[in-house]
Amino acid sequence: MNVIRFADLVARGQVSGKRVFIRADLNVPQDDNGRITEDTRIRASVPCIQMALKAGAAVMVTSHLGRPTEGEFKPEDSLAPVAARLAELLGREVPLQSNWTDGVSVAPGDVVMLENCRLNKGEKKNNETLARQMAALCDIFVHDAFGTAHRAEASTYGIAQFAPVACAGPLLAAEIDAIGKALAQPKRPLVAIVAGSKVSTKLTILQSLASRVDGLIVGGGIANTFMLAVGLPIGKSLAEPDLLADAKAVIAAMKARGAEVPIPVDVVVAKEFKAEAVATVKAAADVEADDLILDIGPKTAQMLAEKLKSAGTVVWNGPMGVFEFDAFSKGTETVARAIASSSAFSIAGGGDTLAAIAKYGIEKDVGYISTGGGAFLEVLEGKTLPAFEILARRAAG
Ligand code: 3PG
Repeated sequence: MNVIRFADLVARGQVSGKRVFIRADLNVPQDDNGRITEDTRIRASVPCIQMALKAGAAVMVTSHLGRPTEGEFKPEDSLAPVAARLAELLGREVPLQSNWTDGVSVAPGDVVMLENCRLNKGEKKNNETLARQMAALCDIFVHDAFGTAHRAEASTYGIAQFAPVACAGPLLAAEIDAIGKALAQPKRPLVAIVAGSKVSTKLTILQSLASRVDGLIVGGGIANTFMLAVGLPIGKSLAEPDLLADAKAVIAAMKARGAEVPIPVDVVVAKEFKAEAVATVKAAADVEADDLILDIGPKTAQMLAEKLKSAGTVVWNGPMGVFEFDAFSKGTETVARAIASSSAFSIAGGGDTLAAIAKYGIEKDVGYISTGGGAFLEVLEGKTLPAFEILARRAAG
């Protein structure tokens, strides 16, 4: 990857006393009270911040949190809980500054967190005026937000165009190196799991993976659409009927290569979406009109576990069902444990996937855990992410 690396600037002594603006991805899941439920992304962002502090930089760090309405601050959009967690991890204060685009005051050796960058008007559309304002705050822009590397927004792309120096942080660099290495010449069979509820956002990725992987396991809302595509009933389960033709094309493309998309043979259903709802295991063909499919069934889970155990490489994104509710978590748990006990090299990414890995305590048994969700999938798809495109352009001068 031909980009300037922040670690190299530090090694060359070019960071001391400089104003360093770090775009991290601190977009972490929170419960209804705003408490952080999973902090991998914050922990993964610490090395870059520490590197900058140790080098004697005046450090600004920002991130988006969720998808707030620009220009309309609501307390739940605040990075305050994130700043508090970062302060614990760094063992120092991390003050949080709002309304920061006109100026930030931070001394060398100190760090300040800049409030949710998606509250700034023009962020999502990469407004040039906003990007130039942000670029003017710093001497060095460090992109360390792998999870947001697939977005061309003002704080991820525009600022990189206009900052005096734009470089890749250690997390961004490590992620692309690890995923690239794993996929350049994967040990086969290569099995991808693409699951979760964001059906429409992942279907195009499924299409691309269909030409490269030996097995394509679908789960969650995506599996429902595939079940519908092969003529199975799904009751009132989450699905996207508009995408049936695409799902059928993915199945056909895999079949034509002698590969397969395993379709659930049994499922766990409920009549309502609730943790305490009665869970019933049914053959896939027996789903009733008022059933909600909330997990794969035990036979399906076992069938998938067998495939995962004999895989050479496993790429995992998304839970198989509503694993947050215990009655509907067995499918995800069986798949997670099969990945953990498989000798395959495994790479996993995505917020829900990280939460599942943490829930089953299999962190040490997964080959590489990415902090990216959509970004992770786009790399798997073979796309050049905007972050890398602009950083490479800046490195070329
Ligand atoms: C993610 O959670 O995948 C990243 O933080 C990107 O968030 P976004 O999909 O809202 O851009």
